[in-house]
Amino acid sequence: MTTLAKIGISGAGVIGQLHASALAGIDEASLVAIAEPREDAGRELAGKYGVDWYPSLEAMLASADIDTVIVATPSGLHPDQVIAAARAGKNVITEKPMAITAEGATAMIDACDEAGVRFAVIFQNRMSTDVMKVKRAIEWGLLGIPILANGTMYWYRSDEYYAANGGWRGTWALDGGGALMNQAIHTVDMLQWMMGGVASIQAHTATLGHDIETEDVASASFRFNNGALGSITATTCAAKDYPVRIEIIGTKGRVTLENNAITLQECESELSDDLLTPEDHELADGWADGEDFGLAHRRQLRAILHHFADGTPAEVPGNEARKAVDIILGIYESNRSGTRIMEDSQA
Ligand SMILES: NC(=O)c1ccc[n+]([C@@H]2O[C@H](COP(=O)([O-])OP(=O)(O)OC[C@H]3O[C@@H](n4cnc5c(N)ncnc54)[C@H](O)[C@@H]3O)[C@@H](O)[C@H]2O)c1
Repeated sequence: MTTLAKIGISGAGVIGQLHASALAGIDEASLVAIAEPREDAGRELAGKYGVDWYPSLEAMLASADIDTVIVATPSGLHPDQVIAAARAGKNVITEKPMAITAEGATAMIDACDEAGVRFAVIFQNRMSTDVMKVKRAIEWGLLGIPILANGTMYWYRSDEYYAANGGWRGTWALDGGGALMNQAIHTVDMLQWMMGGVASIQAHTATLGHDIETEDVASASFRFNNGALGSITATTCAAKDYPVRIEIIGTKGRVTLENNAITLQECESELSDDLLTPEDHELADGWADGEDFGLAHRRQLRAILHHFADGTPAEVPGNEARKAVDIILGIYESNRSGTRIMEDSQA
């Protein structure tokens, strides 16, 4: 068996641990090192997988025998860490959001191009058969003319959640936003992906249920590039986590996704797996409604590592992943200025 990649993970928190576990289920991937400034957390995760612990990304890049870095640190650190890994000649995979500023996103894409290394961004919610079927159904016109696309995310996040690990979540400097930039970015990404991008934005955000700098509730209205209108409403102030919903309304039917599974479809013909491309099948292979958190990461990581190895394009590339970031930055700007924001980069 060929080893596809020798991997170091930067950040041993919630999602760094999930990546380590996901990699353990990919035979051809080899986890080699963990970089984590919290020594106890770093040593614990490294020890669990029998790999080396380093106190910083820089130390890992200098000494570990790795060719690929997974960046799983607080979001505001992603650009500097991706750029450092790229300049050290490593392929890079980063967690969402890839960056919390447009400049950061551009700089990391440019750095990977200049260094000639491969780069991909985790958006694991795309790796669902049902999500892909809805995207392809819209493209094939099975819903008729797209009219509306609405996303809702009503979740609960505690004060302890925001205070954990130094309290980086809910800060502008390290989270870059709140309910949108951290949590609902997956839904924003899927909406823009299905509808061919966002053309304009008008929005309100507020902080109603937590003592944090950034928004814990947001309501934004979109015009999509395919002509349809739509919205994202999101909060981390709900009483509990309700299913994340995407509803698409077309002139010939409608479809609803809840937690990435189709729960309602009223179309002329049932949306079938035949709509999927070979690439879709690869990314969604093994998807199941209600699957454990982590399995979609494993599918995306496996596909990315295969594409890095054979030189073919890997989902999700930086210039695609940045669209959700740019849209959320547009939502913040619309709320601040009270104006409509045109998303030039989405055209
Ligand atoms: N794809 C998803 O569904 C998903 C889910 C959760 C989090 N995330 C993303 O993953 C990232 C991390 O989130 P989390 O929930 O794991 O946070 P976390 O606080 O649990 O973990 C972050 C870890 O990074 C470490 N760290 C801080 N500075 C570092 C540095 N300079 N070098 C190396 N490590 C450093 C922290 O000590 C901490 O252990 C965020 O960007 C978040 O948006 C993605």
